[in-house]
Amino acid sequence: METSSLALSSWMTFGLLLAIGTIVQLADAQAFFVFGDSLVDSGNNNYLATTARADAPPYGIDYPTHRPTGRFSNGLNIPDLISQRLGSEFILPYLSPELTGQRLLSGANFASAGIGILNDTGIQFLNIIRMYRQLEYFQEYQRRVRALIGSDRTRRLVNQALILITVGGNDFVNNYYLVPNSVRSLQYSLPDYVKYLISEYRKLLLTLYKLGGRRVLVTGTGPLGCVPAELAMRSTNGSCSAELQRAAALYNPQLVQMIREINNKVGRNVFIAANTQRMHSDFTSNPQAYGFTTSKIACCGQGPYNGIGLCTPLSNLCPNRDLYAFWDPFHPSEKANRLIVEQIMSGSTDYMSPMNLSTMMKLDNWTP
Ligand SMILES: *[C@@H]1O[C@H](CO)[C@@H](O)[C@H](O)[C@H]1NC(C)=O
Ligand SMILES: *[C@@H]1O[C@H](CO)[C@@H](O)[C@H](O)[C@H]1NC(C)=O
Ligand SMILES: *[C@@H]1O[C@H](CO)[C@@H](O)[C@H](O)[C@H]1NC(C)=O
Repeated sequence: METSSLALSSWMTFGLLLAIGTIVQLADAQAFFVFGDSLVDSGNNNYLATTARADAPPYGIDYPTHRPTGRFSNGLNIPDLISQRLGSEFILPYLSPELTGQRLLSGANFASAGIGILNDTGIQFLNIIRMYRQLEYFQEYQRRVRALIGSDRTRRLVNQALILITVGGNDFVNNYYLVPNSVRSLQYSLPDYVKYLISEYRKLLLTLYKLGGRRVLVTGTGPLGCVPAELAMRSTNGSCSAELQRAAALYNPQLVQMIREINNKVGRNVFIAANTQRMHSDFTSNPQAYGFTTSKIACCGQGPYNGIGLCTPLSNLCPNRDLYAFWDPFHPSEKANRLIVEQIMSGSTDYMSPMNLSTMMKLDNWTP
């Protein structure tokens, strides 16, 4: 009697464990995929022969390890801050040798500093991962994950994942406006160039949909004319470059419009537009209201506005990074990234359309 009831209870325990095992297996953690440029690159370019890299101090000075990682930030970048909100670990760069086995199931970051919507953007940076290649890597990623957990679970993992894509700024600053009389500026008027970019971006987003993306956060550009690099190069009196502001003002609303149109086409709100221009403008127009002493001078750099050249070990470096909206001549500080992610999570429809990320997470029953 004793032995058989013991046997029975251990069988029940075994059965229970099996059941729990099945539940755990069905509910994979929320995966997170990132595509785009230096605003969201977490270190892919460290593995490439390119000049677009952030692998020397003082990059990373406020990162948990206080060391450079390839992030174009003094500390955390936007993907890191979103991961924190999702309650997950920071997503590894796709080229990282550590991204293997179970770690693949958390997602991957395919972004590469210097790239744009167009293949000819960032040619001066040589070997970088252009958008079409990031999407090829996403397919390769899915093949690797299928070999681990099978096709059904892989499809579910990708369908349920959050995807962030940040690209477009370089198509202006590192292409159309890189040099006077650039090839693209001779080929297109600014309004026609913007239309061309939007039509190419649309193709990229539809490819992402075809590859299984169902929750895609798409950011616009910031106020391109107000970054310290442009103030240093183009401004005589400290106001933002009118030409680049005109570019951002044309591009961002058309991006929102295109996203609305492809959501209608696919029949649901797959794509969510983040109005990063508005988010940035808030603190470039009134930095003090957000705790910054300046939004014109970069923390790390040299020359007027610390906006000339790159941030290097020899650059001027501010003592308190939280007081600066810009970390280097082009990239926001961690503090500014925090304000942006705050709005992505819970901003009104002026900032997020058609909804913010916390509303989307509730809709999908995501449990961080
Ligand atoms: C970029 O290059 C890839 C590979 O050569 C090509 O398939 C793609 O159509 C190109 N994209 C544009 C916008 O020209
Ligand atoms: C700075 O210069 C630009 C163009 O030269 C002009 O439009 C703008 O009003 C000036 N801003 C200030 C604050 O003086
Ligand atoms: C955005 O998020 C906040 C906080 O979760 C929520 O209260 C609010 O209603 C949302 N706004 C919109 C427009 O979705």
